[in-house]
Amino acid sequence: MSAFEVIIYEKQDGIAYITLNRPKALNAYNIRMRDELYEALGAIKDDPDVRVVILKGAGEKAFCAGADLTEFLTAPSPVFARQARFERDIWGRFLSIEQPVIAALHGYVLGSGIEMALCCDIRLASDDAQFGLPEPGLGIIPAAGGSQTLPRVIGRAAALDMLLSGRWLTAPEALKLKLVNRILPRAALYPEAIKLAEKIKSYSPAAVSAIKQAVTRGLDMTLSEGLELEKRLGRGLTADTKL
Ligand code: COA
Repeated sequence: MSAFEVIIYEKQDGIAYITLNRPKALNAYNIRMRDELYEALGAIKDDPDVRVVILKGAGEKAFCAGADLTEFLTAPSPVFARQARFERDIWGRFLSIEQPVIAALHGYVLGSGIEMALCCDIRLASDDAQFGLPEPGLGIIPAAGGSQTLPRVIGRAAALDMLLSGRWLTAPEALKLKLVNRILPRAALYPEAIKLAEKIKSYSPAAVSAIKQAVTRGLDMTLSEGLELEKRLGRGLTADTKL
């Protein structure tokens, strides 16, 4: 059940499913999608019943073909655009979710599609997935964190190669660069995402959240700060479980 127009939000047995749902436009990311994702992610963030999230795209051809080119650079003014962006910090919201988010990627995964996937914790891809960043060809740079998240995931040289050469990656190439964790036949993509979500769901939510925080927050810290964080989170868990 979903009250949204361009995404579908469903919740079943502790797993939340967000489906980008503009298949005729290859699930291109538009302002409406940004607002609906913001709302859905906010609901997830505050919902202790949601233990894991799966993000996927509707239709056969694409997870997401990037920013909607029909809305491209149509914001009335840079000031307004910046203000709207601040008020709808969708990427910050993605990254602030304590529950693990699994991206299930198929077909075209372009521009903001890759950037959305990079905000997720585990990326599964079908063998037909193709990854590309068309931004430089459009005279822009990634606007959804990609210039920062991509090198953190695949390293500086590979990120610059991908951004500056305009080269698209096949699923096996994306796997080799560790842009995705696993490749699956198309038919196995969602069943495998659900199986993984079920596995995560079987663990203590507090431990899962602490692990996610230790890894994701720790990456922005020095090693000694990260070790302190790990200690703090570990102590919190021990106190909670009264061991
Ligand atoms: N924004 C808006 N609409 C988009 C879109 C986008 N980013 N990507 C695809 N679409 C629309 C197409 O306009 C087309 O609509 P139509 O059927 O009303 O004409 C529909 O989705 C299907 O796309 P089509 O181009 O016919 O499919 P294809 O398989 O031939 O090509 C792509 C697929 C992804 C190679 C091609 O659509 C493309 O290059 N899209 C733009 C990618 C891009 O530059 N994204 C911006 C990143 S910043």
